[in-house]
Amino acid sequence: MRLVTVVGARPQFIKAAAVSRVLRATAGVGEVLVHTGQHYDDSMSAVFFDELEIPSPDYHLGVGSGSHGFQTGRMLEAVEQVLLQEKPDWVLVYGDTNSTLAGALAAVKLHIPVAHVEAGLRSFNRRMPEEINRVLTDHASEILFAPTEAAVENLRREDIPASRIKLVGDVMYDAALFYVAKAEKESRILEELRLVRQRYILATVHRAENTDDSDRLRAIFGGLIQVAADIPVVLPVHPRTRHALERENLLRGASRYFHLIDPVGYLDMVMLEKHARLIATDSGGVQKEAFFYRVPCVTLRDETEWVELVDLGWNRVVPPQDERDVAEALHSWLNHPGGRDADPYGRGDAAEKIAECLVGGAGP
Ligand code: UD1
Ligand code: UDP
Repeated sequence: MRLVTVVGARPQFIKAAAVSRVLRATAGVGEVLVHTGQHYDDSMSAVFFDELEIPSPDYHLGVGSGSHGFQTGRMLEAVEQVLLQEKPDWVLVYGDTNSTLAGALAAVKLHIPVAHVEAGLRSFNRRMPEEINRVLTDHASEILFAPTEAAVENLRREDIPASRIKLVGDVMYDAALFYVAKAEKESRILEELRLVRQRYILATVHRAENTDDSDRLRAIFGGLIQVAADIPVVLPVHPRTRHALERENLLRGASRYFHLIDPVGYLDMVMLEKHARLIATDSGGVQKEAFFYRVPCVTLRDETEWVELVDLGWNRVVPPQDERDVAEALHSWLNHPGGRDADPYGRGDAAEKIAECLVGGAGP
């Protein structure tokens, strides 16, 4: 069975690391890895290939940044060329980025079945580019690997046939279990930043709805600056956010109050997450990782796709409309005792289930 995997953005490298390892160890599977080039800085791409031992991409499309239409269009054209050449039995895509949509669309138009990992997530907010990407990808896919019960429910409500939906768990949980020991052994980030375990907040911000809206960006950074008076805050800055902070003249001010650092590799990130007292984020992946390490999380958004985290009491959604709301939420959750225990993301064997399903002849 020949399979083309399409990745391009940071969280996809982490997800693909977990799945590719299993696929490549499965007899009868040949994987061709395509990197669209959506993320290209070393700290957004190469570091993950090195640390997570992901094989070098067979094709690097070098698409780079641009508007949605430009970026997705260039990827679509380039992925199509690869698929025409490779003629795979399946195309595997992850998550909800422009790389996901381009991979799915290129494949389905060539009548190559698409398998979507992390299917069924919904924010019900069509202003998010990710929501459009997910809905279209799900409906173009032959097989939908859902990470949670809630995701399965969303797909059923959209009349996707049950036979196409496979509840496998979350591949990010597989990655967390696999790499945590390596992170504890190899990462020195806590020492380098002189952070004391349980005595700092880890923050990440990169969603377009937060970075491209001056009021929301100011509410988030104003709130973080207020809390930084009481507890150190460390924030690895996504390049989109760095540009936004520069545009709003906030970069220098913020770096006076807390650790604004370049994006870190996955192993450093695991350590920063695992030993934080509290995490504040608008990232999908980071919300879940907070829970994997049982760290309370404040989500700086209007909604979350990972609703089970809120139900379990580990996550609180705080729309960043006012810096006082953000500061109040962070302060009040500094002593949050945590939520209930459960395993909504499976047992860390999502990649095995995906491989079994693909090899076992799931399909059209
Ligand atoms: C993308 C995804 C988002 C995902 C995120 C993960 C879409 C629509 N969005 O958002 O769902 O959560 O990746 O991190 O696909 N840039 C660099 N260097 C890089 C990459 C980006 O400087 O290596 C800068 C460029 O100015 C670029 C901007 O960041 O225009 C945004 O990058 P882009 O890939 O378009 O979107 P993300 O915000 O990263
Ligand atoms: N991550 C990382 N370094 C960072 C920030 C995030 O390794 O500086 C990891 C994080 O641990 C998670 C993934 O990147 O596994 C999340 O990606 P991101 O927040 O960019 O995207 P999202 O999950 O929101 O799509």
